[in-house]
Amino acid sequence: MDRYKKEIGRVLAPLVELEEGQVIELLEEPPEPEMGDLAFPCFVLASRRKQPPAQIAAALGEALAGRRGAIWEKASARGPYLNFYFDYPAFGRDVLGAISKLGPDYGKTDRGGGEVVVIDYSSPNICKPFGIGHIRSTVIGHALSLILEAQGYRCIGINHLGDWGTQFGKMIVAYQRWGDDRELKEDPVNHLYHLYVRFHREAEADGALEEEARLWFKRLENGEEEAVALWELFRRLSLENYEQIYALLGISFHHHHGESHYNDMLDEIIRLVQEKGIAVESEGALIVDLDKDNLPPAMLRKKDGATLYLTRDLAAAQYRKRTFNFAKALYVVGAEQTLHFQQMVRVLELLGFPWARDCIHVPFGLIRFKDGRMSTREGKMILLEDVLKRSINLAREIIEEKNPTLAHKESVAEAVGLGAVRFGDLSNDRIKDVEFDWEKVLDFSGETAAYIQYAHARICSILRRAGCAEPSWSEEAAASLGQEEEKALLKTLAFFPGKISASAESYRPSILARHLIEVARDFNRFYHECPVLVEDEKLRRARLLLVAAVRRVLKNGLALLGIAAPEEM
Ligand code: ARG
Repeated sequence: MDRYKKEIGRVLAPLVELEEGQVIELLEEPPEPEMGDLAFPCFVLASRRKQPPAQIAAALGEALAGRRGAIWEKASARGPYLNFYFDYPAFGRDVLGAISKLGPDYGKTDRGGGEVVVIDYSSPNICKPFGIGHIRSTVIGHALSLILEAQGYRCIGINHLGDWGTQFGKMIVAYQRWGDDRELKEDPVNHLYHLYVRFHREAEADGALEEEARLWFKRLENGEEEAVALWELFRRLSLENYEQIYALLGISFHHHHGESHYNDMLDEIIRLVQEKGIAVESEGALIVDLDKDNLPPAMLRKKDGATLYLTRDLAAAQYRKRTFNFAKALYVVGAEQTLHFQQMVRVLELLGFPWARDCIHVPFGLIRFKDGRMSTREGKMILLEDVLKRSINLAREIIEEKNPTLAHKESVAEAVGLGAVRFGDLSNDRIKDVEFDWEKVLDFSGETAAYIQYAHARICSILRRAGCAEPSWSEEAAASLGQEEEKALLKTLAFFPGKISASAESYRPSILARHLIEVARDFNRFYHECPVLVEDEKLRRARLLLVAAVRRVLKNGLALLGIAAPEEM
């Protein structure tokens, strides 16, 4: 598609007195096939030419009339648009040729040129079960790292565990008072979590608890043995629990550098802030005033000397720049932390780091279940582990009902169940809140992973019946596709690489996810109208090439979202 856009840019640029790149930027995908394959909107020219856009479009259509481009067979005006109609034999050959040649690499580019992107994602808080709230970060962050890798970036995934802060003073107090060794062994994270909830309940009645917890955190910060040993135990047990979930999701991080990793680097940040004179000190507290930026003051050290989440993020940013020399550092974290990251970037800027603006918060909305947002304090929490298991179970039931003789039922149930949860999250624009609806996420005919996976499996079955897993390339056959449904499908396939780039550029996996729905939908429309295993040798071959290309795109696309594509369903 890029080549097609370039060609239009080359021809049109001198006629409209714009740069080639500007023309390419402006090209649109018309919503209906009668409107051609790519359209140039003439609105931008109206004020300069002092003519209505439709008149400009008509004049351009006139200028190009009878001129057949290298890639289009017709260019004509329709309202304010100049529409280009591709030369389909050539287009079919180009698209299917590229897909068959590139295979697993179709859709990849080396745009990133090996630049490093650090992606901070998942980042649960230890001693708490892995809540569904962290699923968005995990799923979006993982998809982004796959998508950016496919664009030639080198991604470093960091799980910025919440493993430091005053809450661990509370944890220690709670564990010492009410902890149970046996329960801790059996179900560590749940036990720790219940202790944490209990602490907050009891602290309401007993004010001394908070003070005790503060002292224990102080001991932890001072590296006192008893405190450190307990904290290490909590951290290890929590991480072991999360690792099971990551294994299920096929996710591995380059580093599990939690907040505690930066403890040794906090002094340096504090010193730097003081040297630059950007902070005010009062009774031991250290605060950067960000009033001019319309941001709340950034506290880097409390009166009692304790440092904060923000202090650790400043140190982490500097460490990451030094260690990985990133081009971009992404923070895949909920929108409720927007202010925090604005403060972080601003303080980094005030510190004089030229790379401050390369730290980018990639925010997302909440996941809501019907009963509203969950809070970890009150102990009302939906667990990711349970959600995943429930989804796999539901998928298994559907398979039992629809296809009880299926081979590898278990692995298919896993692929469909996990895919459902992931896709349910990824297919929504990340900034919107997601409402999780079990009826919808596994609907084989809705906008779901199962719908896409099912189209993929269906094609695998067609190819099996045709007796050719990978149909051999034929230029002649590829150039013979001309039915409406075939053309629509070719075009959707051609847009795939551009959708991956768009996802990468805007850090929005939903663009790719939604495109895969379109591919699957266009495939179903095609399949409804156009039988593949027909007598006519040439037509059969052409359609086999087309469906094999669809299978390839669905598989590559799902892989970039971290979703498996089973061959049978
Ligand atoms: N642990 C934090 C939380 O659950 C998220 C950490 C995000 N990463 C960061 N560098 N601040 O809210």
